[in-house]
Amino acid sequence: MSRSTRYARLSADEFRTRLSEALDLYVAAMNYPAGTAEQRAPMWLTHALRDGWRCVAALDTDDALLGLAYGYRGSPGQWWHEQVRRGLAGTEGEAAVRHWLDDYFELTEIHVRPDRQGRGTGEDLLRRLLADVPQRHVLLSTPEGPSRAWRLYRRLGFTDVLRHYRFAGDPRPFAILGRALPLD
Ligand SMILES: CC(C)(COP(=O)(O)OP(=O)(O)OC[C@H]1O[C@@H](n2cnc3c(N)ncnc32)[C@H](O)[C@@H]1OP(=O)(O)O)[C@@H](O)C(=O)NCCC(=O)NCCS
Repeated sequence: MSRSTRYARLSADEFRTRLSEALDLYVAAMNYPAGTAEQRAPMWLTHALRDGWRCVAALDTDDALLGLAYGYRGSPGQWWHEQVRRGLAGTEGEAAVRHWLDDYFELTEIHVRPDRQGRGTGEDLLRRLLADVPQRHVLLSTPEGPSRAWRLYRRLGFTDVLRHYRFAGDPRPFAILGRALPLD
């Protein structure tokens, strides 16, 4: 961990205050077109109202955002939950649906500013976010293919739940990865 990096839990109010800074970071980290931020804003605000929502920020000495991770308790009726249920039921069966979806935390977003990646900040964020999460499992989705995100998830023991899955409305294949909590 760099000594110039500070980690802080953000309340929902603090998250809303930093929303545009957080979305700028997200767009830069994911290399998405600029308009993506506006499109995502209402969704991120809705997420912050969900049961079990928690967020950890990495901040520099000027209090600027270097990284962000958040998630919440997954539950039926949420779009992501229903998409993953459909995929799991179709390929792995109902036992897998119950195993993974009965009691899980969805890691929804994790991003580090491009010029600060590759220094362990993402791992620090993830460990802090998942510490004391009460759910039995953590699940996430990530685009297929080698990436720094994949290396991070594998290093922390995430295994395959569903591979090459296509969410409705997105042509890219995704992997759903998961592991039991707590982290070691
Ligand atoms: C995925 C992402 C959040 C990971 O964050 P990160 O800070 O870059 O990565 P990590 O915390 O895993 O850093 C580990 C890397 O730092 C290096 N490192 C340097 N000092 C370190 C330290 N003290 N502790 C741990 N790792 C350290 C490691 O060698 C490792 O290198 P590697 O990834 O080349 O193997 C970040 O790369 C990112 O925002 N990517 C783009 C957006 C994205 O893909 N988000 C996830 C979508 S599903």
